[in-house]
Amino acid sequence: MQTIVSGNIKIAADLLERGEIIAMPTETVYGLAGNIFNEEAIKMIFELKKRPLFNPLIVHIPSIDTLEDIVEEIPIKAKNLADVFWPGPLTLILKKKSTVPDLVTAGKDTVAVRIPNHPLTLQLLEKLDFPLAAPSANPFGSISPTTPSHVFGYFSGKLPMVLDGGDCERGIESTIIGFEGEDPIVYRLGSIALEEIEEVVGPVKVRNKKESAPTAPGMLSRHYAPDTPTYMVEDVSQFIAQNPNMKIGVIIFKEPLQVTENIHQVVLSESGDLKEATSRLYAVLHYLDGMDLDLIVAERFPNEGLGKSINDRLERATKKK
Ligand code: TXA
Ligand code: MG
Repeated sequence: MQTIVSGNIKIAADLLERGEIIAMPTETVYGLAGNIFNEEAIKMIFELKKRPLFNPLIVHIPSIDTLEDIVEEIPIKAKNLADVFWPGPLTLILKKKSTVPDLVTAGKDTVAVRIPNHPLTLQLLEKLDFPLAAPSANPFGSISPTTPSHVFGYFSGKLPMVLDGGDCERGIESTIIGFEGEDPIVYRLGSIALEEIEEVVGPVKVRNKKESAPTAPGMLSRHYAPDTPTYMVEDVSQFIAQNPNMKIGVIIFKEPLQVTENIHQVVLSESGDLKEATSRLYAVLHYLDGMDLDLIVAERFPNEGLGKSINDRLERATKKK
């Protein structure tokens, strides 16, 4: 199969209407999208990603009016969050209507849903008369894609189309929020900082990693991982000193280190802007992973705002030191 990379939403819509799956841009990461009502398409998404069937997909909708087609009840705080953050990188887990196929939700009685904030994908969703299920467009366990060429590298020849919407603006996945009755719980840290969520709904609990691994504990902890052995440490200079004669890729937040030529250093944001650092994180991991290095080491980020989301992803991508 030949994979076209194009920004033409007419072609994208035709393919999806015929039950094909395509890669689509969002403001967070690229997704592998298919019609939620087409069983073959949804099965193909799981197969292509090599994703276990117990791990449910996120449903993407074009507008808040379409929310009631797929969910039963909307807690007040969910409504407040949706009003503030949609379209945007917020995923809500809500009681599903029976019309949402069990394959999409892995048999759960809840569905994960969001309105993505990307102009091409919003136009595409408006054009279609069904929502799109879309997990991140990476093989299970690999780094999520934030550019068309990342997706092409993973799935060229296996997909008819990558809808080209340029580089993803946010660069890590959406923040996922579920509910226990009326109480919001963060299931996954992401593109919206915890503090921004709390400004809208007050203090929220964050589910710990063990609880959030769906069904098979431990199975999903190593995730978002480069092939090169990757570490996160407090003191990068010390790590370099402890690993002499190694080619090392170094990910630094803002202040570059003095390094020798076997060290390949990338600074994520010289101005110390966590949003900029977040938007570049995966692209830098992809880049360093392609450089044939012995090791990659990232500095632990400040544990505030998006720094928490970055540390969460690095923890999942890395080995402990
Ligand atoms: O930014 C994003 O959220 C991207 C873009 C493409 O929208 N999508 C994404 O999807 O990250 P994925 O499949 O890689 O991650 C979705 C997460 C999974 O960890 C899954 O277990 C969880 O959402 N999830 C989905 N439905 C759920 C449900 N009903 N209850 C609990 N967790 C759910
Ligand atoms: Mg993913």
